[in-house]
Amino acid sequence: MKELLEKIRQEAREAIERASNIDELNAARIRFSGKKGELTAILKQMGGLSAEERPVIGQMANEVRGNIETWISEKENELKSMLSEMKLKNERIDVTLPGKAGKIGKKHPLSIVLNEIEEIFVGMGFDVVQGPEVEYDYYNFEALNIPKDHPARDTQDTFYITDNILLRTQTSSVQIRTMEHRKPPIRVISPGRVYRSDAVDATHSPLFHQIEGLVVDKGVTMAGLKGTLEVFIKALYGEDSKVRFRPHHFPFTEPSAEMDVMCFACQGKGCRLCKGEGWIELLGCGMVHPKVLKNCGIDPEIYSGFAFGLGLERVVMRRFNIDDMRLLYENNQRFLNQF
Ligand code: DAH
Repeated sequence: MKELLEKIRQEAREAIERASNIDELNAARIRFSGKKGELTAILKQMGGLSAEERPVIGQMANEVRGNIETWISEKENELKSMLSEMKLKNERIDVTLPGKAGKIGKKHPLSIVLNEIEEIFVGMGFDVVQGPEVEYDYYNFEALNIPKDHPARDTQDTFYITDNILLRTQTSSVQIRTMEHRKPPIRVISPGRVYRSDAVDATHSPLFHQIEGLVVDKGVTMAGLKGTLEVFIKALYGEDSKVRFRPHHFPFTEPSAEMDVMCFACQGKGCRLCKGEGWIELLGCGMVHPKVLKNCGIDPEIYSGFAFGLGLERVVMRRFNIDDMRLLYENNQRFLNQF
């Protein structure tokens, strides 16, 4: 048996030495020291040995097993490092090749124009403030002097969450929140998303953006409103832009007006863009209603204010000649890459 063990040791050594890859090495492992391997087969015959021989052979068998395992693991390491060296050689990279630049995102057209508008107003001393999109009825309607039976409150126009909570339909809600927290002088704009239950088409979307403006102080007048908006429009559309104010009605302003800009395409003559009007409606505005000031704890005998609200999409569409509002929300890369 000693000789047999010695033979296994020799053969194993040679087989391991010869192995030129992991598969061959594994085959050798199975053949010599596996559960059904040659070594195990020999150990199974140990029952037939005498009591003196058994420990001697046992020890030797253990030694042989130890040898085989050591050689296998040595060979394994050797094969592995050969493999990784080969890999390194094959994967050598040319660091002088030109790189591939990652794609950098661009500002969305809505953001481009909003940033511009914010800058204009910040330049005039306005703060930019935010309000929640999920809003109480009180801030969106009640405090803005919009009576219970006003058509804007209809569920056809407003997304209600509960009887009392809704998705704001206008950024005017932020007027109230601002006046509750700030004392005059107040000069803020508040851009943000608003929601109305409209079907989607080229000029309507259930989600769109407004920019609200509010000024409250002693001695604020309609002249101040007109002057401020004129400065704004000239900064946005150029020094030659012309504006006009038409009387209008909003529940939260008195008097109220709508402001139009002269059509850039036809200079007021009337064309397709302005539908023959010569003017394009741009925003709603007016003097803050005394009731609204009172609702916010501001004394209308001492203070007055003006407010305005404009839709961002309209300004953006006109600026970039976009004829379908849906393009602004679809995030088509080919569309967005043009800006
Ligand atoms: N909130 C109005 C709307 O959604 C727009 C508006 C009109 C805002 C007049 C104002 C304002 O602040 O004074 O149609």
